[in-house]
Amino acid sequence: MISSILPADFSRKAPAILSLIGDTPLVEVTRLDTGPCHLFLKLENQNPTGSIKDRVALAMVEAAERDGHLAPGGTIIEATAGNTGLGLALVAAAKGYRIILVIPDKMSQEKIAHVRALGAEVHLTRSDVTRGHPEYYQDVAARLASEIPGAFYVNQFGNPNNPLGHERSTGPEIWEQMRHDVDAVVVGVGSGGTLTGLGRFFSRVKPRRGVEMILADPAGSILYEWVKTGKMVESGSWAVEGIGEDFIPDNADMSLVTDAFEIDDRESFATARELLRKEGILGGSSTGTLLAGALRYCRQQTKPKRVVTFVCDSGNKYLSKMFNEVWMAEQGFVTRPVHGDLSDLILHRYEAGEVVTAGPADTLLTAFKRMRQADVSQLPVVNESGRVVGIIDESDILVKVHRDASHFNDEVSTAMTDRLETLPPRARINSLLEVFDRGRVAIVMDDAKFLGLITRTDLLSYLRLHMPKSPAERELS
Ligand SMILES: Cc1ncc(COP(=O)(O)O)c(C=O)c1O
Repeated sequence: MISSILPADFSRKAPAILSLIGDTPLVEVTRLDTGPCHLFLKLENQNPTGSIKDRVALAMVEAAERDGHLAPGGTIIEATAGNTGLGLALVAAAKGYRIILVIPDKMSQEKIAHVRALGAEVHLTRSDVTRGHPEYYQDVAARLASEIPGAFYVNQFGNPNNPLGHERSTGPEIWEQMRHDVDAVVVGVGSGGTLTGLGRFFSRVKPRRGVEMILADPAGSILYEWVKTGKMVESGSWAVEGIGEDFIPDNADMSLVTDAFEIDDRESFATARELLRKEGILGGSSTGTLLAGALRYCRQQTKPKRVVTFVCDSGNKYLSKMFNEVWMAEQGFVTRPVHGDLSDLILHRYEAGEVVTAGPADTLLTAFKRMRQADVSQLPVVNESGRVVGIIDESDILVKVHRDASHFNDEVSTAMTDRLETLPPRARINSLLEVFDRGRVAIVMDDAKFLGLITRTDLLSYLRLHMPKSPAERELS
């Protein structure tokens, strides 16, 4: 066994990675228009799991150890699939605790895979039920914690060590890095830990609201309206992750907020993308919301002010969403030129290099791998001069290989269909439905020019985007 050849105390030492939580760098924005202000970004994406939540995960676990709520052999339980889950999974792995995360089933596979890879046990629960339902994820977590001996329910929405973590680490760090000269801090609210912890810290070091606490809230969340009017409105939907709420968490002391900005998804995503292009900083979707709020605040000022906001998590977590052109178009966040014909339904445009294709001389194995990689079930076959000469789908490959898998080495041209269902862009939607009824996909050709494919999924995405918005859409998205 490995342990027998290692020093005796090796297995009892927590890995050094936990000492890398916090003490994140602060950089000034230099290429965006900040009006008369200096705007600084605290790079929380540089924490070990890539988010601000590593700080509070460590703070809440260590407080539970001190208070006797968590002892060796204990189990950490939390309801989250987001960054808090990742932070807790890292801390649990490092300290040798069992961890169970209760995750609503609409959460992304990447996030679930990441916490599982860190050793967390995942308990999937329904995402279509709300507070009070026995399958509501927070209620499930509380129940599991009461049933499992030695379990500690973290509950970031109500745990006082969440804001305390920020009051004791994030606040003092900013204060030192800004050389005790800060006029405003722009935050988002998920659990309220950041707002409350920083608000308390800054009212101590610079009393009488010497540091303005500005909320940047996604459009659809109820918090902006609460700050501005004191009214509790019905929540809508938003795609930015980690911030915005449909209730006021116990940990969010909203009285600390001095002003608020409401930022919609489109502006949040565009701002995060601009941050990468102009400043080279890969932040997540909520970073876009905070930065957009901070820029609006800065540009409204008449006197120079020193303002701080956060890169709350890493944009790596959003490469297949906010940083993906096709996803952005599918969700309606980027506007493509409208032609008023079938070409508006093409999500993956051939000319823009967005279509995965096979060549007639490629092997069936290559075609199959490309289908798996792109998560599609057919590929257009395009020859060297850019002409579509066929289409190949999973059943074409299966027919060839089911008796003898060595046929995976055969050429695509031997298995593809060359009877093509081509439609000109001006064709009617009915012609598209007829193609689908024959079990095929439509190849859109403008004379000899290949524009792209239209599948059933593309038509459904298009229709979904053009349906009237309703509150229920949040559950569906
Ligand atoms: C992804 C993400 N999670 C969480 C937070 C902070 O939320 P909380 O209110 O839980 O401290 C932010 C923003 O600060 C965030 O961007």
